[in-house]
Amino acid sequence: MITALTAAFTQRFHTSPAALVRAPGRVNLIGEHTDYNHGFVLPMAIDRAVWIALRPRPDRQVHLHSLDFDQSTTFSLDALNERTGWVGYVQGVAWALLNAGFELNGWEGVMAGNVPMGAGLSSSAATELAVARAFVLVSDLPWNPAQMARLAQNAENQWVGVHCGIMDQLISAAGVAGHALFIDTRDLSTEAVPLPPNARIAVLYSDASRSLAGSAYNQRRAQCEEAVRLLQQAMPGVQALRDVSSQQLEAHRHLLPPTIYHRVRHVVRENERVLRSLLAMRSHDTNTLGQLMLASHASLRDDYEVSSHELDLLVELAVNAGALGARLTGAGFGGCAIALCRAKDAETIAQDVMEEYNRRTGLNGYAFVTTASDGAGVVRPPHNRRH
Ligand code: GLA
Repeated sequence: MITALTAAFTQRFHTSPAALVRAPGRVNLIGEHTDYNHGFVLPMAIDRAVWIALRPRPDRQVHLHSLDFDQSTTFSLDALNERTGWVGYVQGVAWALLNAGFELNGWEGVMAGNVPMGAGLSSSAATELAVARAFVLVSDLPWNPAQMARLAQNAENQWVGVHCGIMDQLISAAGVAGHALFIDTRDLSTEAVPLPPNARIAVLYSDASRSLAGSAYNQRRAQCEEAVRLLQQAMPGVQALRDVSSQQLEAHRHLLPPTIYHRVRHVVRENERVLRSLLAMRSHDTNTLGQLMLASHASLRDDYEVSSHELDLLVELAVNAGALGARLTGAGFGGCAIALCRAKDAETIAQDVMEEYNRRTGLNGYAFVTTASDGAGVVRPPHNRRH
């Protein structure tokens, strides 16, 4: 990727890039639909990313070519106006940085990635963080991962108009190779937790549409907010569902309509599962982690109702093939499931599951075994590397 990108840059701008930046996609091991409830998540950055080869410009223009879309964009930092498509993410990040008071320089570059797009692996967060890394580099600003994640989230929420939480941006900004990142989304504190050395994560792509994801995601968020309002009648200190325990929920169940009760039950128990997963990972207890992942999937399917026939099938096939645990990852309604596998079985499980899945559904799902990578960073072009 680095070589191809460097070559494309050189062909386009007739000189070598001054730098390369990269930001990864993610999977979430556990802690789904908890981030916008101020709760806990446990994602890891994957070994697939978005890269940008670039050099600074002396003016306030950005000239960027996307190899993946085979499209170019040129805009001035003084006239941001595109909110859709890949250019919307690029301009959104510029807007968020400017809005936060940063002085930005222009730059020109070529961008490419290998995070599958529209598959629920956060290719948009990877794009945002790569662009943020580029701006910070050419503008000589300090790189603060949590702050940049928050600004990228602002770009998504306020510029592009997607009401996501902070998880995808923060893991793309702050991932640690070989580790998952426990994140408390209330104060953005993190703890890097080593992945068990004998375990691997297989990513299972369902090839099923995520068309419902946007509207249903917003509806779930609204239901959680409604639940907070209702629970505050009895517990005025509750700011978010993060502040509610399983026991408190059961004690105040009568305050909630049945559907809302089930949504809350997912969030409350999922937060508890994340904390138990953290303990399991610290003690290399992969069996318990696997069981917690399965419980998370069941809860997303039955209480939060964001799974799909295809994702349920992937989880079932993964368990039958010998995975220690499996669950949908990300918002749901399509996209990907992940399977926690013993290292020696991971490739076989990935292959067996997809063969059977594609045979049964007629879809073109695919799988890959991934490792945990570092978050957004600066990569030098090969010929500039100092030995
Ligand atoms: C999407 C959002 C995240 C998070 C997950 C669900 O990936 O971007 O903020 O809410 O869904 O856990």
